[in-house]
Amino acid sequence: MLIDFAGQVVIVSGGGRGIGRGLVERFVAENATVVALDLAFDDQDDDGALAGVRKLQCDVTDTASVRAAIDAVESEFGRIDVLVNNAGINVEGEVESLDPARWRACFDVNVFGVFALSQAVIPAMKRAGRGRIVNAASFAAIIPSVGAAAYGASKAAVVQFTRVLASELGPWNITVNAYAPGMIPTAMNGFADLPEARQNRLLDTLSLRRWERPEDVADLVCFLASDYAGYLTGALIDVSGGKFATQMPNVAHERAAL
Ligand SMILES: NC(=O)c1ccc[n+]([C@@H]2O[C@H](COP(=O)([O-])OP(=O)(O)OC[C@H]3O[C@@H](n4cnc5c(N)ncnc54)[C@H](O)[C@@H]3O)[C@@H](O)[C@H]2O)c1
Repeated sequence: MLIDFAGQVVIVSGGGRGIGRGLVERFVAENATVVALDLAFDDQDDDGALAGVRKLQCDVTDTASVRAAIDAVESEFGRIDVLVNNAGINVEGEVESLDPARWRACFDVNVFGVFALSQAVIPAMKRAGRGRIVNAASFAAIIPSVGAAAYGASKAAVVQFTRVLASELGPWNITVNAYAPGMIPTAMNGFADLPEARQNRLLDTLSLRRWERPEDVADLVCFLASDYAGYLTGALIDVSGGKFATQMPNVAHERAAL
């Protein structure tokens, strides 16, 4: 254990699987009272890693669903210390052929969902005079990729939202930060199922040249949620294994292999 969240209530949206599940497991290990929000949960998890976690069905695109979930947390636990806005979807497609409904769905989950949950927890955090809101952005907020107009634009919106909200909540000692993961194989992207040559091309874009793990993201998110990050707000922190470092990090790996 590195950071102790004993007595603190941590909410993780999209906590049922993928990176969110890794975040939930880490906060449990760090002694937090953890609430996972998701569209649905796998019943088989009841005795597994999510045992002891408060699981609440919540659709972040639905204001009434968000309100009900946050009301339930407040009445059950009486406080909200940390909100991690992890829930997100990936929408791929070139602009010319992208179904407008998919563009809207992308912004509904990735941007409106972050707004709605953040708005809902602000009163509890203001009353406490302290709080942490941590938002999942992506390297795609900064690095453009063909076919990622909707996703990249939605994550860029999360970054700007983060900065504005950090300013608005500064007077209450509530920090708001975003993080930019790189490439974690999950159900969202299916990286692990790609042909080896395609996997290698993607790995060639990383200075650290390995797939990222949910634990790599959890290390940073725990820090941002902790007292150690008390003077850090409005930032986008890169946890991508070097996506932003150079355009061709594979040159260093090729030289190192000689
Ligand atoms: N996997 C990556 O490589 C990567 C890279 C950069 C950023 N991210 C971001 O990290 C976050 C998690 O990604 P992941 O790879 O774990 O994805 P994932 O698809 O495995 O998990 C996303 C979770 O969000 C939930 N969710 C989706 N829509 C929801 C809604 N309307 N209401 C509530 N929950 C909802 C899903 O049910 C799921 O449990 C996302 O915001 C994603 O954009 C992921």
